[in-house]
This record gives sequence, structure tokens and C-alpha cells, in this order.
Amino acid sequence: MSYDPFRDEVLEDPFPFYEELRNSCPVHIHSDYLHPLYTLTRYDDVTEMLINFDLWSSHYGQMPRYSVQGCLFSDPPEHTWYRKLIQQSFAPRHIALMETEISTLVKELVDVMEEHQTRDLHDALACPLPVLVIAKILGVPTEDINQFKEWSDAQLAAAKSSNPDDSKGPRDAMNDYLLQQINERREKLRRAGWDEHNDLDNETLLGEIIPDDVISGILLAEVDSRKLSDSERLVMLNQLLVGGNETTTSLITNMFWRLLSQRELYEQLVEKPALIPTAVEESLRFDAPVLGLYRTNTEEISLHGVNIPERSKVMATYGAANRDPNVFKNPNEFRLDRPQKELRKHLSFGLGRHFCPGAQLSRLEAKYALEEVSRRFPNLRLVANPKRIEPFLLWGRKELIVRWD
Ligand code: HEM
Repeated sequence: MSYDPFRDEVLEDPFPFYEELRNSCPVHIHSDYLHPLYTLTRYDDVTEMLINFDLWSSHYGQMPRYSVQGCLFSDPPEHTWYRKLIQQSFAPRHIALMETEISTLVKELVDVMEEHQTRDLHDALACPLPVLVIAKILGVPTEDINQFKEWSDAQLAAAKSSNPDDSKGPRDAMNDYLLQQINERREKLRRAGWDEHNDLDNETLLGEIIPDDVISGILLAEVDSRKLSDSERLVMLNQLLVGGNETTTSLITNMFWRLLSQRELYEQLVEKPALIPTAVEESLRFDAPVLGLYRTNTEEISLHGVNIPERSKVMATYGAANRDPNVFKNPNEFRLDRPQKELRKHLSFGLGRHFCPGAQLSRLEAKYALEEVSRRFPNLRLVANPKRIEPFLLWGRKELIVRWD
């Protein structure tokens, strides 16, 4: 079957193509790239890729080209070490504390939207919310968030490029900035008589001498008796920043887009806000903000009669698996009455060892956004059909023009 993941028609609406692949070409080979790119679309195959870690390695990166990204995008033992670090520094306590902050931020953004009569829900709410939230959690000044968004988008835009240098400029700029933030904290600690190699009680430093945020947490963290180097700290911060922005924006834009395109769904939510968490989850299933990511097989395999040579780049297509009729009844329908046991099976945050550490945070952002907007604007309507964002692995809207009068 002829399928080109980079073709305009596919980018415009990948789901009919996924359906065809799932039905008649479960292992697809795209030969028109630097090296062959394989695509798996059936739920069982994608799940197997995500849990059989020995066979499906993350060591060569999640993008079509081979790159060793390290940190969270690696295999054990490196990956296990970073997950422990995430548990320490990006702890649920940070996220729980953020709940009130998120709700306040949403209210403020919607106030401004109403006051200025901003018609673009992307610019007014979906885009700034995740950047503001992650800036607060990491501990970077909110006045710098526009700059952050630019660097993070530029890195994602370079995803399909076969030249690794394309993402280097924005990554270096972001790293310089983050290193400055780390050094400012380090300097404060030095002035307070702290020595990086000396054991002082971290708890008394956090909140007292340096802010109790993720950048400070990463500076002080020690996992299995080892501290991080600055370059490891930067990769980690970079992954948190880039991983959480565009994805959450896409969740919010996709969700409003579908609810307003079938307006009776939006009306149901206005009537019955208790359905909002289901709407968020169904949106994640229906429109996976990350359509898929790559793995590399550690040995040659044969799947559905197709030979996949060792070290091939193979895409685990969450977006296709989420619409597999063997798992989800009437998968192409967006339903607010989909049973929870089906909903829980979607793969939009991955599965197993690499499961997204930001899942809870982005669910909260989407929930508060939908609660506030549906309460304030029961008459909300879509004005134009929105265009998709460009990065081929991601699925979201770049604008969402609405009216509420
Ligand atoms: C709707 C929003 C989001 C979606 C759809 C999403 C999706 C994903 C997926 C599919 C993975 C698995 C990667 C793999 O299997 O290789 C992942 C991992 C990751 N996500 Fe998210 N994400 C979202 C929000 C966030 C947020 C808010 C953050 C941070 C604040 C974040 C940070 C990360 C990181 C650091 C990883 C790597 C984890 C690891 O490799 O162990 N994500 N995300």
C-alpha cells in the first residue's frame, strides 16, 4: 500500500490512512527517507512494542532519524535512574500543589479572552496555559515564556528533518538560558556556605535559600548516591519543557474542536459538567496529540510475514491503535458515554516504562480549561475549520476561532 507519513493528504487527516494500514498492511515500509521507516498500527502490535523493552529500544531516539538523546529517552539502567529522579523532582506533590494555580491561571486567561474579545481560543488559552504552568513548576520567570515557547516549537518543528543540526540552534539557546537559572541558584547556595559535594540537608535549602521548584530539585537531587552533571540536568529540563507544551496545547485545541464540531456534545457538557473528565479522556483517545513515536528493534524479527531487520526505525502509532475496532467499539465516534474500561486503554500517554510523567498535569489543565469555558460561554461556537500544526508526529490545531455571543 502506498502510504507516505509526510504527504500533505496524510498530514491533513491521518485516520483514514491508519484504518487502511491496520486492515491491509499492518507492517508498512516507507522507503523514501534516509533509511526505511516502518509503521505499526494495530493495537496489539503497538502495545507489544511499548512493553517488550528488550526488543524495542528507545536508545536511538523517538524520531525518524537515529540520535542518542539519553536521559528519559534511553534504556535501563540509564532510564531507571532518570525515572527515580523524576519521582523525586517532578513529584506528585508539585502537581497537587499546582491544582489551585492551574484553576487560577485558567480563570485569568479566560478573563482576558472575554475582556479583549479574543476569538482565537488557541492564542488566548490553549497555548499560554501549558507554558505558564510548566514555567511555574520549573521555576522560570513567566515574563520569559514567549521565548520558551519559540525554542520549544522550533525543536519540535525539526523532528522530521534528516539533519540533526536543525534543532541545535534553539536547543543551545534554551540550554544557555536554563544553565543561567541553575547557576543563579548555585551562586545563592555558595553564598550561604553550601558546597556541592558536601552533604547538607536539602530540605532546609529548598524554599529557604533557593526556591522550591524543579530546577532547584534537579540541582540538589541525588539518585543512587550520584548527583547529575550539568549537561544531564539540561537534557532532563529540556525534555520536560519540550514534552509538555505543544502536546497539552493540542489536547485542549483538539478537544474544543471536536466538541464544537458536534455541538450537541458541547451542550451535554454545559448541562452536565460531571462528564468533563470523560470528554478529556475521549479526546485523548480520539485525537492522540502525539500520533506516534519511534522505537528501534534490537534484533531482526518477522511480523505479519514482513521481515524487519535489526536496528530498524519503527513507529508505534498510538493514534492508530486508539481507533482499533478490536479494542474500542465504534472507534471513529467521539462518545461521552464510552465505558471507562475502554477509555483506560488508550495509548496517548504511552505505556509501561516510558509512560508520560506529565499525564496527570495535562489532564488537569484540559479539565479546568473545559470547565471554565463551558461555564462562562455556554453559547460557544466554532467559526472556521481550524488548520493542523505542522510537526508530522504531532496532532493539534494551530488556531481555533470561536464566538460566544
Ligand atoms: C496531552 C499531553 C501529553 C501527551 C499526549 C504526552 C505524550 C507522551 C508520550 C506518548 C510519552 C511516551 C514516550 C515513549 O513511549 O517513548 C511521553 C513521555 C514523556 N512526557 Fe509526555 N505527554 C504530554 C504531556 C506532558 C507534560 C505536561 C510533560 C512535562 C511536564 C511531559 C513530559 C514527558 C517526558 C519527560 C516523557 C519521557 C518519559 C520517559 O521516557 O520515561 N509530557 N509523553
